[in-house]
Amino acid sequence: MMKTNRRERSREWYVRAQQSLIEGVNSPSRGAAVYSPGPVVLERGRGSRVWDLDGNEYVDFMMSFGALVQGHAHPKIVDVVSQTMAGGSHFAAATPAEAEAAERFCRMVPSAEAVRFTNTGSEATMLALRLARAHTGRTKFLKFEGHYHGWYDPYCLNGHSHPAEQLGPRENPTRFPDSEGIPASVFDDVVLAPWNDLEALASILRRHGRELAAVITEPIMANMGCILPRDGYLQKVCDLAHEYGALFILDEVVTGFRYAPGGCQQHYGLKPDLSTFGKALGAGFPVGAVAGPRAILDRMRWGSGMVLHYGTFNGHRLTMGVIAANLDLLSADDGAVYRQMYEIGDAAIAGLRDVFHRRKIAVIVQGFGPMFQIYFTGRDAIHDYRDYCQYADTAKYSRFIHGLLDRGIYMTPSNGLHWIISTAHSMQDVETLLAAADEVCAEMA
Ligand SMILES: Cc1ncc(COP(=O)(O)O)c(C=O)c1O
Repeated sequence: MMKTNRRERSREWYVRAQQSLIEGVNSPSRGAAVYSPGPVVLERGRGSRVWDLDGNEYVDFMMSFGALVQGHAHPKIVDVVSQTMAGGSHFAAATPAEAEAAERFCRMVPSAEAVRFTNTGSEATMLALRLARAHTGRTKFLKFEGHYHGWYDPYCLNGHSHPAEQLGPRENPTRFPDSEGIPASVFDDVVLAPWNDLEALASILRRHGRELAAVITEPIMANMGCILPRDGYLQKVCDLAHEYGALFILDEVVTGFRYAPGGCQQHYGLKPDLSTFGKALGAGFPVGAVAGPRAILDRMRWGSGMVLHYGTFNGHRLTMGVIAANLDLLSADDGAVYRQMYEIGDAAIAGLRDVFHRRKIAVIVQGFGPMFQIYFTGRDAIHDYRDYCQYADTAKYSRFIHGLLDRGIYMTPSNGLHWIISTAHSMQDVETLLAAADEVCAEMA
């Protein structure tokens, strides 16, 4: 395998983009904060592949942070887009398309008596919190260290890593706002807890439980890589939240439609009060969703409740058409594509473990099936944010990914994200990955 390293046009373009566009990109996770010396500028994609401005081809394992569950330019999605577009992109009025998307959604997601669509995952978690506050008449909520629920003010606490010695006691974690510009008073309503630690959670709930509208959690921590819940943990969190009269919100923006047709709530047998979706739901189109029982969601019905949810682009006609097609593809043949994604993902995980083992590099590959992450660490597992801050060698991971980028594997160098297997990936892609990983490991060793 050849190192490509031909990225002159990417470099030139990035210089140009920065003259008019802040950071040259539209999110810090895409620019020089993560990619060195600057991003690979992508031009097109098809199936599991993307091509950059210099014509280099890559197998894409980032898949638009997981949004591209069907890979790039899936023929059925391309078809639906062009047919729908020919009749008009969006009316901001009632359409059959939005109900057709909702019917499929409610058939697939176990806890969804009904659904409301938003445009992003951030809007979905924002709406879920508003609903929980209205339903319980309480203001505070609990979030876990290292969990990301979008960029709405109150969620922006302890979402980035910090030196382990600064994290404070588990029962009373030190609080780090993730952004400037958020009034400190916003965080007075946020209770913070370490994840995967029932003892600490029980102790924190004894102090604050009765004030909480909700406990919100990702089912699998997907923004510190890929951190799995301990056995039975999520059900216990749900039970504890209920013991104190708080709602249990499951943020499935990453895991929804990825781990099973009904997301992690189906995989782990959970019944959240509210759950939020995004990414894979839209197969590359911007969408989010809040699902739950009518008793809560009906608060948005004008007249029976007063939970406000507006949005010019809500239920965007083009996106709704894509969702219906996407959900049909995902549920066809009793979810056959999930068996395929698990098989390919598990082969990638096993193959990578084998490469690192042979090359004598201390690494763990965490996750299963369609989503996983690699941590350069001597530990057996990363269980939470604190483990991640203390034990994951993120600089080494970034070097590893830059080596892969040079060899035709596209992935973000941020250790906080995760590898994604879509329905477009094949065993051939896994072989390409393993050959590239072996070369990079040889260089690193
Ligand atoms: C778990 C989780 N919730 C919410 C969001 C926000 O979604 P969006 O980026 O679509 O606003 C993200 C985005 O990465 C996420 O990972």
